[in-house]
Amino acid sequence: MARRPRIAVVGSANVDLTTFTDRFPQPGETIFAPRFDLGFGGKGANQAVAARLCGAEVFMVARVGSDLFGPATIENFRKQGIDPTHVKQVEGLSSGVAPIFVEPSGQNRILVVKGANDALQPADVDAAAEILKSADCIVLQFEIPIETVYYTIAFARKHGIRCIVNPAPAQPIDLAALQGLDYFVPNESEAQTITGMPVKNAEQAKACAEKLVAGGIRRVIITLGANGALVASPHGSEHVPRYVVKSVDSTGAGDAFIGSFAVFLGEGAPEREAVQRANLYAALSTTSVGTQKSFYNRARFNAEWAARG
Ligand code: RIB
Repeated sequence: MARRPRIAVVGSANVDLTTFTDRFPQPGETIFAPRFDLGFGGKGANQAVAARLCGAEVFMVARVGSDLFGPATIENFRKQGIDPTHVKQVEGLSSGVAPIFVEPSGQNRILVVKGANDALQPADVDAAAEILKSADCIVLQFEIPIETVYYTIAFARKHGIRCIVNPAPAQPIDLAALQGLDYFVPNESEAQTITGMPVKNAEQAKACAEKLVAGGIRRVIITLGANGALVASPHGSEHVPRYVVKSVDSTGAGDAFIGSFAVFLGEGAPEREAVQRANLYAALSTTSVGTQKSFYNRARFNAEWAARG
């Protein structure tokens, strides 16, 4: 039986306000939208939930607001079996929220109000140091202050802990802070924004990922949505193809990829297989609506993997 990885997520927690719409209103126009969904989200929280559902022990370091959503988010972590000891409410700030719009094709557009996520400081990482040191892997995103991300990467490096960074939403990076990073996992648009290189297909993704690797990151995985993923290391690069599913809502698919990838890798799967499994896990998450609520548990995933893997 595979070993059970311990995964720490230092990152964001939001509440997602998802509207399904046939089209977007023009300036000054009001239109009806057919459906609304309220659920827990945030890239960090989503990745934590995916990792937990895949079978890891998971703990979260995060900040939520002093509003209705704050305690509800902490309770959601508890219900999911994620340790929320280092998830604290911040007085006077709202929780992170994300108004999301989903088109009939399943494609989404997301606005993020960071709220209390922006209050997660390096000192909070220090306060969680003991539990973080016990992790096999630390997972980070860009919905918290960038200095906290860099500080945590340095912490992981110092303690020899595998570190996965999802640079979402994209913002300029300091490549020096990412030297020797184990995994950098942007999607196409994030890779494009960060490097200034076009990333419209697997060939361009290869060139972009190789540039980031040449800059000192150990491994780069560019997720390509419905086209799978491109994996690059100093030893070369490889395109890992997609799985075909009927997608209704792609929100959180990137998070499903990262949370599950951390688990498959932590269990000892070879890297290519871990990416392949994560491709399937992410694709399956797009087959129903919502973010965390669309993620498969391990038993359902294993059944799909056995059928298609
Ligand atoms: O990646 C999807 C997530 O992005 C949503 O849950 C939303 O909260 C934003 O963080």
